[in-house]
This record gives sequence, C-alpha cells and structure tokens, in this order.
Amino acid sequence: MKTAAKRKAKLPTTFEEEYRSAFGEYTQRGGEAALGRAYELGRRAITEKKSLMEIASLHHQALHAMLADAQGASRHQELLTAAADFLAETLSPYEMAHRGVQDAIAALRQFNETLEEEIKRIAYAVHDEAGQLLVAVHLALADLARELPKPQKEKVGRIEELLNQIEKQLRRYSHELRPTILDDLGWIPAIRFLAEGVSKRANLRIQIKTAVAGRLPGPIEIALYRIVQEALTNAAKHSKASRVGIRIGRKNRVVSCSIEDDGVGFDVPVVHSNGKRRGLGLIGIRERLSAIGGTLLIDSAPGRGTKLLIQLPTETSNASSHRTR
Ligand SMILES: Nc1ncnc2c1ncn2[C@@H]1O[C@H](COP(=O)(O)OP(=O)(O)OP(=O)(O)O)[C@@H](O)[C@H]1O
Ligand SMILES: [Mg+2]
Repeated sequence: MKTAAKRKAKLPTTFEEEYRSAFGEYTQRGGEAALGRAYELGRRAITEKKSLMEIASLHHQALHAMLADAQGASRHQELLTAAADFLAETLSPYEMAHRGVQDAIAALRQFNETLEEEIKRIAYAVHDEAGQLLVAVHLALADLARELPKPQKEKVGRIEELLNQIEKQLRRYSHELRPTILDDLGWIPAIRFLAEGVSKRANLRIQIKTAVAGRLPGPIEIALYRIVQEALTNAAKHSKASRVGIRIGRKNRVVSCSIEDDGVGFDVPVVHSNGKRRGLGLIGIRERLSAIGGTLLIDSAPGRGTKLLIQLPTETSNASSHRTR
C-alpha cells in the first residue's frame, strides 16, 4: 500500500524511471503482473527505439544499486534470479521483432526469386514468341511482294527494313531484361552490355571503372544487375545528365558499386517523404539490398547530380569460388 501510495504521488514517466520501478517491484514481490509490465516495457522500448545496449546498461545499473543495498548471500541470489527473469521478459518483444524481420527478409528473397522467374518468362516470350510472329509477317510480306509491281515492291522492302529494326530492338530488350551474359559471364559483363544499350538509346556517356574480377553468388549478381539497371533507368529518365560513371570495387569482403550522374539531382528527403506519390525504383533497390544484407546511400541535391552508393558484404574474400549457378 505504502509503495502504491508513493507511486500515486509521483508516477514514473520516463522509460528509465518506469523500468526501475517495475524491476524494483518484481524483485520485491515477484508475480505475473510485474512480469507483464516487463513485457510492456519491452514493447515501449521498441517504440521509443531504445537499443539493446541501452536496456542492458539500464538493467545493469538498476541491479547494481539493488545488490549494493541487499544484505546476505541468499538475497543476492534471489535478486540475480529475479533480474534474469525480468530482463528476459523485457527482451522478449525484441526477440519477436527480430524473428519478424527474419521472416520478412526470407519472404522478400522468395518474392525476388519469383519476380526473377517471371522476368525470365517475359524475356523469353519477347524473344521467341514475338520473334516467331515477326517471321510470319516477313513471310506474308514476301508473298505479297511477289504479286506486286516494282514500285510497290520497294515500299514493301522499306516495311521489311522497319520490321528488321523492330526485331533487333526486341532482341536487345529481351537480352537486357534477362541477359544470358549474366548467367554465363557474370554481372559486370552484363552491366557493360546494358550500359551500351542505355547509352545509345538515351544519348548518355556511360563509363564503367572496375578492377574487380571473378564471380559472386547467383542471387547477388542478379540483385546487383537489377540495381544498376534501375539506377541507369532513373538517370536516363530523370537526370538530364550528359554522363554517368559506374565504379565497382571490392575491399576486404565488401563489394561496393557507385552510380553517379552529372544531372539535375533531386531532394532526397522530399522524394522519401510519405506525402508525395512515390515511385518504386529506389524502394525496390533498398529492398533488394536488405534481402541480401547490403546498404544503399543516396547522395543528391537539386543541381548537384546524383550518386548512389551500394555496399554489400560477401561471404568470402575470393567470391569467384562461390559461384552457385
Ligand atoms: N538520377 C536521378 N536524377 C534525378 N532525379 C532522380 C534520379 N533518380 C531518382 N530521381 C528522383 O527520385 C524519384 C524516385 O525515383 P524512383 O526510381 O523511386 O521512382 P520513379 O523512377 O519515379 O518510378 P519507377 O522507378 O517506379 O518507375 C524520381 O521520380 C525522381 O524524381
Ligand atoms: Mg525509377
């Protein structure tokens, strides 16, 4: 009663005060209700973005003070046992949140794999099915041309030239969508191939600098290719840049890749703010990276160009031995 009256007089407000109060109560009287408060404190700590180090330090200080006041070895033992239970209960929401994140990452990986299969299917459909249809059109035109006088035959010839260009372009798109080079030679040659196409279409000078050789695990190479693909698409679509530089390096076990343009740049916080209608490209880059343990840094401002820096820890320093395909 006395403690309850005291609590009424001055209700703990900060997380730290609340923790000390609930912890003290549990070491005095034990009970499920006090443990329930520990659990709620854990949830509050997550909401208030307290780190595990902060909680451990708070817990340690509170326990230290209690042990200093406590008399006798058996009371010390009781306190230590109660402290362990209380801390475990406080941390259990962290454990659940951690498992939730792991599940989300696994789902994200699965989603990317499904997406990749779908892209492959579309790439083959564009390549094979559209290609077959164009062959049929070529044959029909050739039939028609045979029955036509010379001037019209020439017109048909020009249509055939256009069809050849369409065919070439479709083949190019299907290869960029899912380049066989990516599987056969790896992400860097695939990026060179992609850059060549974007450079021609968007009239952009794209320079690639890399001293990195060897292969990375398949899913990582695919992710890196997709990320550079989106960065180049953004540069071509939004930046009005005249040049783009891609630098790829590896230090210790971290692969880094930067894509930098000299274009108009953008206000990163504004684009990230919830109020604006958002595109999916930059979000997709972040999600792809978080699924494989990498990070993205965006350095841009209006009038200053844009630089994306990707960093990705890989398992081995010599990644070429880790080819999975
Ligand atoms: N290289 C760049 N130069 C200038 N602005 C850029 C650049 N990259 C991104 N942005 C800006 O950031 C915004 C968000 O890019 P994001 O890739 O997420 O979406 P989007 O390209 O608009 O749409 P989506 O990628 O879904 O087709 C763009 O709309 C553009 O305003
Ligand atoms: Mg985009």
